[in-house]
Amino acid sequence: MITPIPHPLLEQLRQICGPANVLTHDDPTTDLSPWEQDWRKRVRGRALAVVRPGDTAQVAAVVKACAASGTPIVPQGGNTGLVVGGVPNGSGTQIVLSLSRMNAVRAIDPANLTITVEAGCVLQNLQAAAEAAGFLFPLSLGAEGSCTIGGNLGTNAGGTQVVRYGNTRELCLGLEVVTAQGEVWQGLSGLRKDNTGYDLRNLMIGSEGTLGIITAATMKLYPQPAAQLTAWAAVPSMEAAVKLLGLAHQRLGPGLTGFEVMGQFALSLVDKHYPQLRVPLWQETPWCVLLENSDSESESHARGQFEALLEAALELGCVTDAVVAENLTQAKGLWHIRESITMAQATEGLNIKHDISIPVSRIPDFVAETDALLAQNVPGVRMVDFGHLGDGNLHYNVQAPEGADGPTFLREFEDKVNTLVFDQVKRFGGSISAEHGVGEQKVHKLPHYKDPTALAMMRAVKQALDPQNILNPGRVLE
Ligand code: FAD
Ligand code: MLT
Ligand code: ZN
Repeated sequence: MITPIPHPLLEQLRQICGPANVLTHDDPTTDLSPWEQDWRKRVRGRALAVVRPGDTAQVAAVVKACAASGTPIVPQGGNTGLVVGGVPNGSGTQIVLSLSRMNAVRAIDPANLTITVEAGCVLQNLQAAAEAAGFLFPLSLGAEGSCTIGGNLGTNAGGTQVVRYGNTRELCLGLEVVTAQGEVWQGLSGLRKDNTGYDLRNLMIGSEGTLGIITAATMKLYPQPAAQLTAWAAVPSMEAAVKLLGLAHQRLGPGLTGFEVMGQFALSLVDKHYPQLRVPLWQETPWCVLLENSDSESESHARGQFEALLEAALELGCVTDAVVAENLTQAKGLWHIRESITMAQATEGLNIKHDISIPVSRIPDFVAETDALLAQNVPGVRMVDFGHLGDGNLHYNVQAPEGADGPTFLREFEDKVNTLVFDQVKRFGGSISAEHGVGEQKVHKLPHYKDPTALAMMRAVKQALDPQNILNPGRVLE
């Protein structure tokens, strides 16, 4: 048994959460990397301790103790974030407050179409609880097996159904939050209308753990569709993909619940690293599109709509070939290909990721111009382009040239490539972070691309809500 080094704050935290829920480096056999290393394994921080409270009162007591000692707190859910927002820095002075033990589904209210869950509830379990109650919770992303609703709210996560249901922010009706002073805001409203002052809920959502710690949320439920069909289309250009999107909106209306674009090189990496997934149609076309039609009537109605849409698109030349999944297994297989791009890219080697949004109409020109600029300035790079075209959100990723040494490539080109891409994004009226957030990764870039008045307002809000700057310091704002 290791005798912990006496530390007044850690003693308090062990009192509050129980010794087993306060993990430190005292015990050399405890591996803290699951909480200290980011998902992309690009950054490894060092925590003073990882603390795992079991309920809201414990979270509040932990925050009070940290506030009293001026100890910074990094809130953490599933640690799948991609902008280094949920891991400690290297100082060894920060507490990682993991919400993972607080994962209960507290209530489902069918008539109100709401579900209330604790922040540490894994997204996949929330989806399953909704489905078991006969409803749909329509937030869906590749990390859903480990990300939590607290992290989804912390980052205002997007995913593949935003085109129909919006980001996490649009799916939330109420929050329970522990403030930087350790007070509990009981805001778990199931109300769709509540105009009584500032919108604190939407301020908290997307604040990446820098304004408060979300401990529970009331989320919207939707009726389950009668049928959900998936189609995979080969499209000859990004212009054609945008045209197909317009046609799909026109023909499917609210039935269009997914519209993902995937570049040929991105799909070649899935084919290379996961050949068993059998990527369709990718060899002869620069782009493929994955569409989903969720129909409230019937499978035959959905199929008929899809076939009419694809016929019209073939006639217009914005599709050159297409397959409609015959059944759910085939549909899941196509979505699995789409969700495997991130892993395939990581397996291929180090790369420079961008999570940008541009007005949909301007995406074709952005891609053509920026590809050309990159080819000119960083010869040999390979473009891993894919993403949620339906929301104007492109993952415009730059893979090191074939055979290049990854770390050297990043060292020499990451900042140059980021600046080139972000300057283009600004020129095209876009945002340098569409859905992943700012975290630490983009905190030094943000001031170059965000309206200065908006930044000043954000700083004023941070100063008002967390004057000690103990909540996730150095994230979102420098
Ligand atoms: P964490 O990584 O633990 O934390 C993320 C941020 O939220 C941190 O700043 C943290 O401090 C804060 N936070 C966590 N919990 C709380 C809380 N309870 N209260 C306040 N702040 C909190 N993201 C998308 O938007 N769309 C995608 O399609 C998508 N696909 C992905 C695919 C893969 C394979 C992977 C690895 C990631 C993907 N992501 C995507 C990124 C990531 O999954 C999301 O950002 C997700 O919302 C993070 O949830 P998490 O629970 O892992 O949060
Ligand atoms: C996705 O859309 O797959 C995610 O946002 C992850 C990524 O960008 O790699
Ligand atoms: Zn994404």
